[in-house]
Amino acid sequence: MTAQLITKSTQVNQAKLPNHVAVIMDGNGRWAKQRGLPRIEGHRRGANALKEILRYCKDLGIKTLTAYAFSTENWGRPTGEVSFLMSLFERLLQKELKEMEAEEVCINFIGDLTPLPPSLQQEMHHSMERTKHNQGVFFNVAINYGSRHEMIHACKAIAQKVQQGELSTDSINDQTISQHLYTSASPDPDLLIRTSGEMRLSNFMLWQLAYTEIYVTETLWPDFDNDQLDRAIVAFQQRDRRFGKVK
Ligand code: FPP
Repeated sequence: MTAQLITKSTQVNQAKLPNHVAVIMDGNGRWAKQRGLPRIEGHRRGANALKEILRYCKDLGIKTLTAYAFSTENWGRPTGEVSFLMSLFERLLQKELKEMEAEEVCINFIGDLTPLPPSLQQEMHHSMERTKHNQGVFFNVAINYGSRHEMIHACKAIAQKVQQGELSTDSINDQTISQHLYTSASPDPDLLIRTSGEMRLSNFMLWQLAYTEIYVTETLWPDFDNDQLDRAIVAFQQRDRRFGKVK
């Protein structure tokens, strides 16, 4: 009886899947520390967890996954950790591109890529180009991403269009802003998952998350598996989304 109840409470309803799931992958460092391992081992395991979650999203039929991999504030970490992360991103892109192509993944990087190591930028552009026609699952990876920076970037682009007479100030609306963000190709997330129990947005998609359902779990990111994603989706499916209206 209990087992049946547990199974039922984690049963995903295929008809009510979130279209777009965003994840703040937190807790890699603590996961490693708990095991007496260097922090970089947590990131390595975190990358494996992300790969599995991406595959599971595709299998479930979730159209878009967005992962926060490196924030504009993360440059303040020890130099060794930052350079490890940069080389991890590059190695993963080289290693996984073939599989992403086979699995119909369309990868897109969001953030200001220009300060990243040139060889990493090259891999990023190459993987976006090679996967741009894929339709299996849209995978946004936020690297050197900060939402405030993204909004400043959008404001400048809009202001320039106004200055050049391509846009009138009166016509600027929600859509204009959304279209000038790095995420212009994706709908707003339906579900945001943050691991490791932290209850903050950490400068992540502040505009796009306006009506997103937030799910926080104590699980540390390297331990976040398919079953954990099921639980987050079930919790999402139990929410009453009113978008500020009355039903
Ligand atoms: C946060 O945990 C994690 C990061 C800043 C890095 C996340 C990167 C990955 C999981 C690799 C993903 C790879 C690709 C290709 C996208 P933390 O270090 O802040 O953990 P802590 O709060 O426990 O210290």
